[in-house]
Amino acid sequence: MTDQATDKTSNAMWGGRFAAGPDAIMEAINASIGYDQRLYAQDIRGSRAHAAMLAHQGIITDNDAQAIREGLLTVLSEIEAGNFPFSAALEDIHMNVEARLKTLIGEPAGRLHTARSRNDQVATDFRLWVRDQCDAAIASLTALIEALLAQAEAGADWVMPGFTHLQTAQPVTWGHHMMAYVEMIARDRSRFIDARNRMNESPLGAAALAGTGFNIDRQMTAEALGFDRPMANSLDAVSDRDFALEFLSASSICAVHLSRLAEELVIWSSAQFRFVAMSDKWSTGSSIMPQKRNPDAAELIRAKIGRILGSTVALFTIMKGLPLAYSKDMQEDKEQVFDAADNLMLSLAAMTGMISDLTVNTDKLAAAASSGFSTATDLADWLVREAGLPFRDAHHVTGTLVAMAEDKGCDLPDLSLEEMQSVHGSITSAIFEVLGVHNSVASRQSYGGTAPSQVREQIARWKALLG
Ligand code: ARG
Repeated sequence: MTDQATDKTSNAMWGGRFAAGPDAIMEAINASIGYDQRLYAQDIRGSRAHAAMLAHQGIITDNDAQAIREGLLTVLSEIEAGNFPFSAALEDIHMNVEARLKTLIGEPAGRLHTARSRNDQVATDFRLWVRDQCDAAIASLTALIEALLAQAEAGADWVMPGFTHLQTAQPVTWGHHMMAYVEMIARDRSRFIDARNRMNESPLGAAALAGTGFNIDRQMTAEALGFDRPMANSLDAVSDRDFALEFLSASSICAVHLSRLAEELVIWSSAQFRFVAMSDKWSTGSSIMPQKRNPDAAELIRAKIGRILGSTVALFTIMKGLPLAYSKDMQEDKEQVFDAADNLMLSLAAMTGMISDLTVNTDKLAAAASSGFSTATDLADWLVREAGLPFRDAHHVTGTLVAMAEDKGCDLPDLSLEEMQSVHGSITSAIFEVLGVHNSVASRQSYGGTAPSQVREQIARWKALLG
């Protein structure tokens, strides 16, 4: 890091009452510039809005505001060009930008911080950054929903085993399984939309904690920054990070969903299942075992919940018990959110790619769907419907038939009518119709059920919702 403040006598920005410069270790623990430089665009945007408002209110002159505006644009282009002299001695992005502005434009730079504090400044910058991440998450989640919808549409009729306890339970359709994730991912999306709406208020103008005696216009800066309104309590504005906690919470829930889908992809692509094949783009080979195609991306997505939830727990723990208003503890918010956001966006992009490129082995799915006595419930339901048995008795009769098939090493439809009738006399040949997996899934027409007709209705509903 090149240093724009190598003068160790005292900090250039707040060193008025300090005789000596900070100890090197103090500087190391205090500085956040190593990571909060990611807020540079938001910081400069906030400062521009603030300076324009100060001039509009007659608190600084138009000439000074103009110099500040131009200087800030120069700073922005220096940072974007990668030749900005970031300095750890200047602690954070706010003081780095302001110190550079001073070098560039001189005295007017010192007027920018009128009626403002780093406390409302950082709260504003960080809100703007997290708000952008909500928008990015919403867009990425929409893309994932679209990829899942395309899979669901292709395979609305494909039968596959539905599992409970990872044991074959009842046949379901591929489309139905994909649509289960559409529901989950859409709720994730709505959580980011909600969080974004709630966080979209401006802390700027809360100043250090108590507001300011200057005649500022908080409505004006709120509008300039795309916020719905200024926050109504200055103490709250500088001291809460619930918007970051909401972002992290929504990210964690989303990462849990992604980890479950990732796990299914890992299982389904294994040699024992072969339900799906991941494209080459999303697989890696082994350096020693030539036959391997490892689902690394899926495994990594499965793992990401570890760090995203870790960041969430970290920030909850940092915020817990902090007295109002600002405390330096809160500087520890950023790395957690940066890391979680980066990993969530990466996971969403990778998952969308994998789902879009997935090849489904429909023969394997169908064969697995009809094995494991998957239509035993259909048999029991038939006995209830057609032979008038109470469900409990039907369950018992079906269990006896399953045991018989198991003994013979065959599946339910392979038993003869005579064999079935030896267990219960009222069974007729019509029973064989419900033992087929296609009939089984087609019969599950209840709202939200696995029948292809139901799945198609849900696909149509989501397509209409997403426009
Ligand atoms: N770097 C600080 C942070 O991220 C900025 C606010 C500092 N405020 C203060 N009063 N020291 O929280």
